[in-house]
Amino acid sequence: MEEKYLAAEEKVKKYGQDHLLSQYNKLTEEKKAQLLNEILTLDFQQIEELYKRINTTVDFNNSKIEPINYTDKSSLSEQELKKYEEIGLKQIKEGKLAVVTMAGGQGTRLGHNGPKGTFDIGLDSHKPIFEILCDTLKNAQKKYGIYVTWYIMTSAENNGDTVKFFEEHNYFGYPKDKVIFFIQGKLPMINPNGKILIGKDGLIKQAADGHGGIFLSMKKNGIIYDMKTRGVEWVFIGGVDNVLVNMVDPVLLGLATDKKMLAAGKSVVKAGPQEKVGVFCKRNGKPSVVEYSEISPEMAEATDKNGELIYGESHILCNLFHIEAIEKISKNTLPYHSAFKKAEYIDENGNLISSDKPNAYKFEAFLFDAFETLNDMAILRVKREEEFAPVKNAEGEDSPETARKLYKEFHKIK
Ligand code: UTP
Repeated sequence: MEEKYLAAEEKVKKYGQDHLLSQYNKLTEEKKAQLLNEILTLDFQQIEELYKRINTTVDFNNSKIEPINYTDKSSLSEQELKKYEEIGLKQIKEGKLAVVTMAGGQGTRLGHNGPKGTFDIGLDSHKPIFEILCDTLKNAQKKYGIYVTWYIMTSAENNGDTVKFFEEHNYFGYPKDKVIFFIQGKLPMINPNGKILIGKDGLIKQAADGHGGIFLSMKKNGIIYDMKTRGVEWVFIGGVDNVLVNMVDPVLLGLATDKKMLAAGKSVVKAGPQEKVGVFCKRNGKPSVVEYSEISPEMAEATDKNGELIYGESHILCNLFHIEAIEKISKNTLPYHSAFKKAEYIDENGNLISSDKPNAYKFEAFLFDAFETLNDMAILRVKREEEFAPVKNAEGEDSPETARKLYKEFHKIK
């Protein structure tokens, strides 16, 4: 231990993070060992790099943004629809599709005490979100005769509560061996001076590394390997917070296969030029998502000859990847974006600091940054009222109330 302590001390000093050991003597033996391991394994160089880049802005002038081709599901002929459906169905029935629900987010805007998937949106049945999602898989089983393997990405913070919830609810009647949890990566939070925060538990304060962390964590947790041994070729990846998410969709699968793409994404028509959503586009010839903060007013308002927004295919975090694409993406780390957030931490004098204003940086990778790794992807425009009912905020837009209404309308529940 003594040796480890000295090695950790040398490392924190080298990177100007000596305060990380300031609470060491107050910790239990177990925590002491944990902290030393954290320090010895942490990539301090990476944290330094991330800190340096916090205030550098991306130069959008360097990227050439163009519209992307898409297929509008509602404009497909009956024949085309049938063709895609058949191609997709065959693969689903052969067990080639798996789904991943990303449930590692903090859900700060919703403010629910517990993982977002455990939240009750107020249906008469009081089904929590996880059960609503599980229903779609149970329905798929009835239709296609197969239990699609359901991978659930959690975070170090919420994994225990999530698994416990599934156990307590008997996996909502889904076969337990078809539900696989894995924990996403995490990164330390830092203060505006680049100092790594100490959490309430005396250890390094770390936060989930964003939904873009999924590819690396699938590799590190052996999930890609597990999928391959099960014969999985395609993976649908969606968020936990869309109660109309259609995870097992033969049309999306058929479209990607028919167009010989390694990925496909679903879009819904942007509600208007000002809606704060990212939209699919081509960036320097590669598929991408341009965020609302990146797009100029002229681009946001530009329309085609039919009066439709040229950049109007909103990205709804419903994407399909071929396992080869996942392997390719997981070879590299996606860029990290910083966000200034509220954080509770212990200062070097041992005081608990909390703030009602953002006070620390968190680093997150975005899933859609992975699209640029691919040459192209298929985009399927679907109807918002059929596939997109997000639960983001406690009240108002994209809240349990709006999601409940959309859910009830779609399922024809009074
Ligand atoms: P959001 O970007 O809405 O973030 O996540 P969030 O953490 O859930 O909510 P806020 O911003 O704190 O209010 C979109 C989807 O990506 C998942 C979320 O669980 C949600 O399904 N996600 C997000 C992760 O799995 N891990 C992350 O690190 C971030």
